[in-house]
Amino acid sequence: MSALEYLSLGDPTIRADRFATYRRLRDDNPIARVEPDGARVVLTRYADVERIFKDPLMRVQPKAGEYPADIGSGPGATFHKLSLPDMDPPTHTRLRKLVSPAFAPRALAHMRSWVERIITDNVEALADVDGEVDFVEHFGMRVPAEIACRLLHAPAADAATVLRRMPALNPVLTHTPLTPRQLAAADEAAQFYFDYIGEIVDSKRGKLGPEDPVGALMLAEEEGGRLSRDELIVTLVGFFIASYHTTMVAMTNAVHALLSHPDQMRLLADDPDLAPAAWEEVLRWQSPVHFISRYAGYDFELHGATITEGTQLMLGLAAANRDERRFTDPDTFDIRRANNRHLAFTAGGHYCIGAPLSRLEGDILLRLLPQRLPAMTLTDSNPPWNDELVFPSMTALKVAPKGM
Ligand code: HEM
Repeated sequence: MSALEYLSLGDPTIRADRFATYRRLRDDNPIARVEPDGARVVLTRYADVERIFKDPLMRVQPKAGEYPADIGSGPGATFHKLSLPDMDPPTHTRLRKLVSPAFAPRALAHMRSWVERIITDNVEALADVDGEVDFVEHFGMRVPAEIACRLLHAPAADAATVLRRMPALNPVLTHTPLTPRQLAAADEAAQFYFDYIGEIVDSKRGKLGPEDPVGALMLAEEEGGRLSRDELIVTLVGFFIASYHTTMVAMTNAVHALLSHPDQMRLLADDPDLAPAAWEEVLRWQSPVHFISRYAGYDFELHGATITEGTQLMLGLAAANRDERRFTDPDTFDIRRANNRHLAFTAGGHYCIGAPLSRLEGDILLRLLPQRLPAMTLTDSNPPWNDELVFPSMTALKVAPKGM
């Protein structure tokens, strides 16, 4: 691909071999202009992606201080306006500060026992299975849903009810143009969440301490109304949305990576303290989120090209995490890798606020796997993947928990 070549995001060759495409882009086209008009550019080199994330003048809003017109003025619009990923400073800075105690060390220490119980119970259930099972269905989808429900104090049995409305809400949270029918569905879903989570919050009032994530947020709400009730509810729903899919994909990728690299699984079995490093390597090697958007906050030069204010920057997390300019042998899955500061959780002001919880989950899961499922094998070495550009994931992962 030559330097000025335009990139078609619909090109099937991108999905056919994503990492080969990213390598070509990093080498030959580090500012790839997206068809048809180049109003969007794709950045794939680690240094460029990190630089944009860390620049406080880059925005998540396409136009500074303006909300998309088609989100209307109903409950869906309230969700958009109060949602952390859609906010720029100073609103974002204020809310982020109020929300940060939810995953502070005190809250995390309190969470460990129930996160451990959920993961252990589900690993034990897998260990009981004779023959073949789909890891995505029987673990990958269940565990994150159970954890997200417990986090919000929702009954685990409600997971399907809570999850069902998310696709309808999604278009008001992302910058997807909305039809009136989609807006009506988004408003309906948003109202459902305000009612459903609102009821939970009311039932827990005065009963939770600051070591509980919801308790920590309610404290911020109660102390002089620093956090509004709507902000509290939108933030809690945001935890569910932001954690469910990413965690499902990360856990599935972890099992796939380890089972397809038996030498790395042996290292982990011999030294369970490698679990945190193994989780980081999974996130670097198969990042669950491939692209995150920002908008240029001002005109700037990059690799001899001018990027103008307002240009949408598609930042390639998975591409940056395989950049040979930053990582030695980036395509090698190496759980003992040193200096593994990957961008799977991004960097800067919007850095994933749930990263400490994700790391706790990874630590628990990867310590247990080689102990409780030492003979587990892949029964399909070529699992099917979905077609998505931003959130690629395995749609099934067939394993034999007791071996073949
Ligand atoms: C492996 C698991 C996870 C991955 C790969 C992941 C990845 C990400 C990414 C890429 C972002 C976007 C950051 C940006 O725009 O710069 C993000 C934001 C966020 N994540 Fe995670 N995440 C994970 C788990 C979680 C969990 C467990 C939670 C909470 C329960 C969570 C809550 C959030 C929230 C609230 C944001 C928005 C932060 C903000 O805009 O200030 N995530 N995450």
